[in-house]
Amino acid sequence: MRIGKIFFYAALCAATLCLTGCGGTDVVPRDNSGTKVGVAMPSQQLLRWNRDGAYLESELRAKEFAVDVAFAGGDAVKQAGQIEEMIAEGCKVLVVSAVDSKALAPVLERAKREGVTVIAYDRLLMGTDAVDYYATFDSYSVGMLQAQTIVDRLGLAEGKGPFYLEFAAGPTEDSNAKVLFAGAMDVLRPYIEQGKLVVRSGERTQEEAAVPGWATLMAEERMKGLLAQYGEGTKIDAVLAANDSIALGVLDALKEAGYGTAGRPLPILTGQDADLPNVHALIAGEQTMSVFKDTRRLALETAKLIEAIVGSHAPEINDTQNFMNGKKVVPAHVLKGTFVDASNYKSVLVDSGYYSTVDIDGTASRALGVK
Ligand code: GAL
Repeated sequence: MRIGKIFFYAALCAATLCLTGCGGTDVVPRDNSGTKVGVAMPSQQLLRWNRDGAYLESELRAKEFAVDVAFAGGDAVKQAGQIEEMIAEGCKVLVVSAVDSKALAPVLERAKREGVTVIAYDRLLMGTDAVDYYATFDSYSVGMLQAQTIVDRLGLAEGKGPFYLEFAAGPTEDSNAKVLFAGAMDVLRPYIEQGKLVVRSGERTQEEAAVPGWATLMAEERMKGLLAQYGEGTKIDAVLAANDSIALGVLDALKEAGYGTAGRPLPILTGQDADLPNVHALIAGEQTMSVFKDTRRLALETAKLIEAIVGSHAPEINDTQNFMNGKKVVPAHVLKGTFVDASNYKSVLVDSGYYSTVDIDGTASRALGVK
């Protein structure tokens, strides 16, 4: 890099830092370094949470908070222990995405007693008043986007049908799975009632269609069982998979049963999270759509919430009505997910810098999707 350029970038950085950190009388000087934030994420096996954890850590460190990040490996008991430890270590704020939305009530009570602020992150914490804020994507509209894709691709609004549809929903212990399913069902119900969509298995509730732990292998098992009921002669036209890890398992079972070969096209298949292996599946024409939840934005909004709380300012809340957790209506900052498919993944995922072209061209590991 030429000296002139270096000077230019240095000057730009100095100016930017000055804008955010020093100067005018109304700028509050930051001193968050004494405040420790505990970040409790549900699992590293589900790709997106690796990114959520990393982005939260970097946004919080950028605001000079001390940060402790823990992943619970999909184990609700382990997660309660991790949170317990965070409280004991003096965390003043907890950011929690629960393995089991109802299982943390006792440990959160302790947090409340000790004056710790609790932020539910993407998954609402249920059955406790020991939760102060909720930072999330709107799961109801994610479910609607998934279902609307099925309606559009099958031409249901134009009266086409009947078609066969099956569900692979999220697990019952995740509060989001229920909300997602409700959003999808509100779009699909009229067509099911008219007989234009036929759920041959009869499994039409979230409980019946739940895939434990959002796990790919469990989803594959479920889909295999469903396919056995369809036999050779009847083709499934659409599968509403609640997220991308589930979509991968569904896809494995479908391919094993001969879908995706000549004369036997793959059904419409939904997802959520825009995980890298699924972006490859979109490009290959094996998955129809996903919903991109820009976790960079959620991490940033969460860090801003925390900064406001610690600085005793009013946090930026945009929903004070919709998130009743059984004990209280939790004030929330809600973001929208973005529909993504083979036609727009470049502008949504690459131009926004979420994935690089190298990510897109390479072979993504199903185990860990962090760069
Ligand atoms: C849900 C979340 C989804 C997905 C899933 C699996 O709570 O809404 O975006 O990530 O967990 O981790």
